[in-house]
Amino acid sequence: MAQSPLRVGFIGIGGIGAGHARAAAQHPNMEVAAFLDVKDEFLERASRQHPQAAVCKTLEQFLATPKLDAAVVATPNSMHAEYTIACAQKGLHVLCEKPMAMTVAEAEPMVQAVKSRSLVGLTNFSYRWVESFRLMRETVKSGAFGRVFRLHVKYLQSFLRDPNSPLVWRNRVEIAGFGALGDLGSHMIDAARFITGAEPRRVIGVKNTHVADKLDPKTGGRAPVTTDTDAQFMVDFGAFVGIFETSQVEPAHGNHLVVSFGGENGSARVYSEDGKRFELALGEPYANYPTWKTCLPWVDVPTTKQLNLKSGRGCIDDFYSAIRDGLADYPSFEDGLAAQKVLNGILESERTKAWVEF
Ligand SMILES: NC(=O)c1ccc[n+]([C@@H]2O[C@H](COP(=O)([O-])OP(=O)(O)OC[C@H]3O[C@@H](n4cnc5c(N)ncnc54)[C@H](O)[C@@H]3O)[C@@H](O)[C@H]2O)c1
Repeated sequence: MAQSPLRVGFIGIGGIGAGHARAAAQHPNMEVAAFLDVKDEFLERASRQHPQAAVCKTLEQFLATPKLDAAVVATPNSMHAEYTIACAQKGLHVLCEKPMAMTVAEAEPMVQAVKSRSLVGLTNFSYRWVESFRLMRETVKSGAFGRVFRLHVKYLQSFLRDPNSPLVWRNRVEIAGFGALGDLGSHMIDAARFITGAEPRRVIGVKNTHVADKLDPKTGGRAPVTTDTDAQFMVDFGAFVGIFETSQVEPAHGNHLVVSFGGENGSARVYSEDGKRFELALGEPYANYPTWKTCLPWVDVPTTKQLNLKSGRGCIDDFYSAIRDGLADYPSFEDGLAAQKVLNGILESERTKAWVEF
């Protein structure tokens, strides 16, 4: 017998939440059932695009939507914990955006809220669905690299750079918790864990705010940027130490995430901006011969390793499959918590000027 469609509600639909709703609408067995937002313009737009969905202005209305199975939480970061826990308490599976929360103390009860009810809690670490990242994870897991010795993760953007653009929630620490560190650092930490399979043991780092103020849309004057724009940190994974650098005010960079690593048998680099190919030197003749000429050939991801997404978005496909088909390999709330520990550890290490152990 055909399964009934999975009914999903969306909280926060101005930005990435709208994309998740579009993807769910394209999935063969998902139904866009409800929206919750605080801005009428986004509710109206969503309602035009998905006229069958309930339009909600309060959490109570949202949770009262008939036969809701799951929720997608895509609000600014400070609301993730409250919405996620309320949805889980109502028995809904939850896809929550990254960074999972503001603090580890907020993230831990989110994990418990889904775990204690055997619900799916998925953290949207979107680079897990970049084909080159997945292939490198598989290759490391197969043992082909041997031991990993070295890791460098760099994630640069420019979109928060203009000091004459309006102050947005990402510039406000009480709403975002972190700047580039949370927005991009969370992806970087997850990508490192995902590809190498190694777990952070301790961290040390620093952060900076290089664009100090922006236009205050309310007053027309200047308002301080209270989040970081840049961060650098080192994560000790036991067998190797990862070096991480991130900025959201770097000229000329769009969405530039690069993970570069090397080990006993090879060296590789994967890029967010081109997930269908990567640089790789693995096995003979590279492994045993030193060289003075860098040689890291471009390799295409084989067609057999390309993703064939039903909805156009890996997180939406896997959210469905985790709920309905028992898929176990997805970025879970535990993965969200692992990244959260590193992020908050960096803030602590900045205060104490010392390594923070996990
Ligand atoms: N996984 C990724 O690659 C990725 C990419 C972009 C954004 N994100 C994450 O998604 C989240 C949202 O980011 P965005 O860029 O879409 O932001 P956005 O500002 O474009 O959209 C946020 C939406 O939340 C709504 N909102 C604000 N307060 C609310 C409240 N109290 N209740 C309900 N809705 C509320 C806003 O009106 C807006 O519609 C953030 O956590 C961000 O880190 C993740």
